[in-house]
Amino acid sequence: MRAGDSMSEKVKLIYGSHEYSYPVVTGTENEKGVDISSLRKDSGFVTMDYGYLNTGSTKSSITFIDGEKGILRYRGYNIEDLAEKASFPETAWLLIYGELPTDEQLTAFRRLLTENALVHENLQSFFRAMPPSAHPMGILCSIMNAIGLFTPRFYDDENKADAFGLMVASLISKIRTVAAFAYKASIGEPFVYPDAEKSYCANFLNMMFSSKARNYEVDPLLVKALNALLIVHADHEQNCSTSTVRMVGSSHANLYASICAGICALWGPLHGGANQAALETLLQIQQSGIPLRDVMERAKDKKDSFKLSGFGHRVYKSYDPRAKVLKNLMQELFNHSHFSDPLLDIAFELEQLALSDEYFKERNLYPNVDFYSGILYRAMGIPANMLTVMFAIGRLPGWIAHWKEMHDDPSSKINRPRQIYTGPAERAWIPLNNR
Ligand code: SDX
Repeated sequence: MRAGDSMSEKVKLIYGSHEYSYPVVTGTENEKGVDISSLRKDSGFVTMDYGYLNTGSTKSSITFIDGEKGILRYRGYNIEDLAEKASFPETAWLLIYGELPTDEQLTAFRRLLTENALVHENLQSFFRAMPPSAHPMGILCSIMNAIGLFTPRFYDDENKADAFGLMVASLISKIRTVAAFAYKASIGEPFVYPDAEKSYCANFLNMMFSSKARNYEVDPLLVKALNALLIVHADHEQNCSTSTVRMVGSSHANLYASICAGICALWGPLHGGANQAALETLLQIQQSGIPLRDVMERAKDKKDSFKLSGFGHRVYKSYDPRAKVLKNLMQELFNHSHFSDPLLDIAFELEQLALSDEYFKERNLYPNVDFYSGILYRAMGIPANMLTVMFAIGRLPGWIAHWKEMHDDPSSKINRPRQIYTGPAERAWIPLNNR
């Protein structure tokens, strides 16, 4: 029987003298869900589940996470294998189209990425018009929406395979260029254009750091690290930003607008903004000499809004497998190269303190993907305020894959949750002079 259909298993809901029965949905890895699609029609009830901690919004065949075992797979492939053996374009193809690309498909995809790396010259003035202090995430979501305006024909054809494929390549290629241009604009340097001879990651590093005024050689070790970083960020099932892309896309808003909504959701410090916050915490500790035990006490103090960014996760109640990949990658990078960073020692010590602390252990708070990513990006020269942009570059294929999966599903509907109203009961109008 196909995963997802369990005609036999049922869950009963009893309220007073009424009994309702709902089918059980079983996933590939035997996860169980109760399909309550007819609950309100049957009983007038809606469910309440703040933050959707226990609510499945859809079936999906893109990514599987086991939070207890620390498993993450894209289309069945373990994240450890992909981070070590795949390229980011290969992983993007796998997420979006469901299979690893053939040599021919990958060559054609790479050619599309190369041919679609430029952003329209009219957008140069937009970069220059923004204040140098503008947060690059604000620039990214604005420009990525604007890029859609330069390709109006996609709105008509976006359901046609070739137009969709071109839109995918255009988004995944241009987001790199936009990120690099935003960085160059913030430091007042001339833009460096994409180089058709360079790979996806080497091109990005070159656009970020080369200039006519300095000899910048792209370091193959950093290319390998960036490739793995983008892969481990590429998808994570129904997280906040991906669910936002699905929510916006469910109204049939175009792919560019849906992606921009995802970029905005990712910006929050509880989500993708945590990598910037985690690195800034390590920098504050390094610069101020705050004892690490004081940092831990602040993180545990309910009266203090400070949380140890890069720790804890809604799903992982064990070590985030992506954090393990990045920690190993960092040790390899720092062992085999001229890189060294005092933040690394601080991060390792903080992790050891947290993993042996009762408060953190009781709450299953482990390092997540954001705890070490900042140190790796810093080794490349990428500043703290660009870290969430890097997360967005990595997550873009996942957002596109979920948008496509939803649009390919003929049963998908516009997302519209219900609520329980707790405001005032009916009351008469009060004229202004009587209030
Ligand atoms: C990402 O969903 C995804 O998949 C996200 C992501 C992806 O790839 O898309 O994995 C990327 O967003 C990773 C998470 C990045 N965010 C951070 O690192 C911010 C710090 N972490 C926390 O804000 C928190 O852990 C969350 C938001 C990540 C998860 O929060 P939950 O699941 O809502 O859990 P919670 O806030 O209810 O915390 C449970 C308890 C609380 O204490 P009690 O009320 O039980 O006493 O743990 C505490 C929290 O106060 N807690 C922390 C903490 N995280 C949770 N205490 C101190 N420091 C922390 N980091």
